[in-house]
Amino acid sequence: MGVFHPFSAVLLLSCSVLCDHSALAELPKEFPCEALSINVDKNRLKFLSERAFGTLPSLRSLSLDHNNISFITPGAFKGLPNLVDLKMAHNEYISYLHTRTFAGLKKLARLDMSDCNLFNIPDRIFVEQMALREVLCFQNKFRRIPGAFRDMVNLTHIYLEKNKIEAVAYNSLLGLGNLRYLNLEENRINVIHYRAFQDLLRLENCYLNDNLLTDLPRDCFQGLTRLKTLNLGGNLLTNVSKTWFSDLVELEVLYLDRNRLLAIEEGSFENLTSLITLHLNSNNLTALPFPVFQPVYFLGRLYLFKNPWECGCSLEWLKEWMESYKLVRNIPCASPSSVAGLDLGEVVFGRANGSCVDPPELNATAAWLAPSTTEDRFHSLLSRLLQLELRDETGNGTEYLRNGSLPEAALSAGARGQAVGSRRPHVYPLVTWLLLGFGGRLEFGFGVFGT
Ligand SMILES: *[C@@H]1O[C@H](CO)[C@@H](O)[C@H](O)[C@H]1NC(C)=O
Ligand SMILES: *[C@@H]1O[C@H](CO)[C@@H](O)[C@H](O)[C@H]1NC(C)=O
Ligand SMILES: *[C@@H]1O[C@H](CO)[C@@H](O)[C@H](O)[C@H]1NC(C)=O
Ligand SMILES: *[C@@H]1O[C@H](CO)[C@@H](O)[C@H](O)[C@H]1NC(C)=O
Ligand SMILES: *[C@@H]1O[C@H](CO)[C@@H](O)[C@H](O)[C@H]1NC(C)=O
Ligand SMILES: *[C@@H]1O[C@H](CO)[C@@H](O)[C@H](O)[C@H]1NC(C)=O
Ligand SMILES: *[C@@H]1O[C@H](CO)[C@@H](O)[C@H](O)[C@H]1NC(C)=O
Ligand SMILES: *[C@@H]1O[C@H](CO)[C@@H](O)[C@H](O)[C@H]1NC(C)=O
Ligand SMILES: *[C@@H]1O[C@H](CO)[C@@H](O)[C@H](O)[C@H]1NC(C)=O
Repeated sequence: MGVFHPFSAVLLLSCSVLCDHSALAELPKEFPCEALSINVDKNRLKFLSERAFGTLPSLRSLSLDHNNISFITPGAFKGLPNLVDLKMAHNEYISYLHTRTFAGLKKLARLDMSDCNLFNIPDRIFVEQMALREVLCFQNKFRRIPGAFRDMVNLTHIYLEKNKIEAVAYNSLLGLGNLRYLNLEENRINVIHYRAFQDLLRLENCYLNDNLLTDLPRDCFQGLTRLKTLNLGGNLLTNVSKTWFSDLVELEVLYLDRNRLLAIEEGSFENLTSLITLHLNSNNLTALPFPVFQPVYFLGRLYLFKNPWECGCSLEWLKEWMESYKLVRNIPCASPSSVAGLDLGEVVFGRANGSCVDPPELNATAAWLAPSTTEDRFHSLLSRLLQLELRDETGNGTEYLRNGSLPEAALSAGARGQAVGSRRPHVYPLVTWLLLGFGGRLEFGFGVFGT
């Protein structure tokens, strides 16, 4: 034990042992038997032998993050009967765990194996860990949801983001009646089997964003009446079916951004009576029929930017809605060409005999390059400025929501929406200035504005 030195970083502080950052290649031979917690992070440990920590009946927390562990002898943690929290994250050579790796850890409630190199774990690895509540296994190489989680009735949190999981099978998540949080974002999930979530009756937060889903089973989320956040952003969905969300009466935040949505079936959001925020931005939507939102319980924020909106009379209701409720902003029109580039809020619908008339379709070039009046030109510039600003704000789609994690993300997104709106007044002087003949400095103007 040449490396271990009593005067190095080893400190005994009210029963906590700190040996982090100490260049240890092996564990100390003995730990004080009254130790409550041991931290051996950021050393050079390679190997854990059987009963590597001796017998420490008081130990509740053990952290081995950022070592170079590649092998854990079965029974390494025997002698730690009261351990609650075990961390072994960031050990990039752990690719294999024996069924008896965690033998003896009957009180283990939280296990962190994130950023290791695991591609599977034995189905029976947690037979003694029935108290396990949180398992963190993000950033590994799992290709499927480990069977080891099945029937872990006390599990509340599963973190499996950034793996290589390809499917959520019908039996992957059986018996997880207490699960509150499931994170599967940034995997390669292309299929979710029918009834795959059927046992997750207490699920509150579900992240399925940034996968390869093209469709969902009809009754995918059936019975998930406690769900509060559902993130389906960053997939390849084309149609929203009205059966998907029919039971989600407590859903507050729904992400459907960054898909390829072309159509939303009428009634799709009908039962979402608790919805606060709906993200539909960055899709291929041209129309949003009013009945999609009927009955209108919806009292939060609606994100619609980065869609090729067709600002004809069929969207007049949305303009009115924008004006009355101020819940929606930034709906840049892609067509008809006479209003392309304008925000829906700026489109003036003509009337003939009391009924709305669609804005005309012009030659695209004519609409852009030869605005007919100063006012048109003003509006066209203004909307282009606003669009540029918006692009700035939102950057890469909803990248800032990529983690998608918490309702806070939604709230801050709301705050951003607010900011876009409240900045409008600052735009006017700049545009006026441009119209006075300094159009050549347009680029400069944008630059200043973006900051
Ligand atoms: C970590 O372990 C691996 C495999 O056991 C080895 O190849 C590598 O050199 C080790 N790295 C350090 C910094 O000790
Ligand atoms: C779940 O946890 C509770 C409290 O931690 C414990 O009493 C119960 O035995 C656990 N369930 C099982 C099946 O072990
Ligand atoms: C999606 O909706 C469109 C329009 O309603 C329909 O033509 C198309 O068949 C639907 N596609 C799928 C995959 O359901
Ligand atoms: C909304 O909930 C009611 C009552 O549970 C149900 O009958 C109806 O089909 C649901 N709507 C949709 C669109 O699923
Ligand atoms: C959806 O939009 C993308 C880019 O905006 C485009 O490349 C793609 O062809 C569109 N897909 C459909 C089905 O319209
Ligand atoms: C208005 O209605 C009258 C009678 O229905 C019709 O003759 C006229 O052409 C209409 N005007 C327009 C602009 O549609
Ligand atoms: C649009 O421009 C093309 C030629 O560029 C011309 O043939 C066509 O008649 C124009 N259409 C309209 C509606 O002005
Ligand atoms: C947008 O995101 C993609 C993937 O995350 C990345 O490769 C690309 O560089 C990003 N583009 C910008 C402009 O940030
Ligand atoms: C995701 O969350 C982590 C920590 O919570 C943070 O470090 C990271 O920057 C986030 N990534 C994005 C894209 O927001």
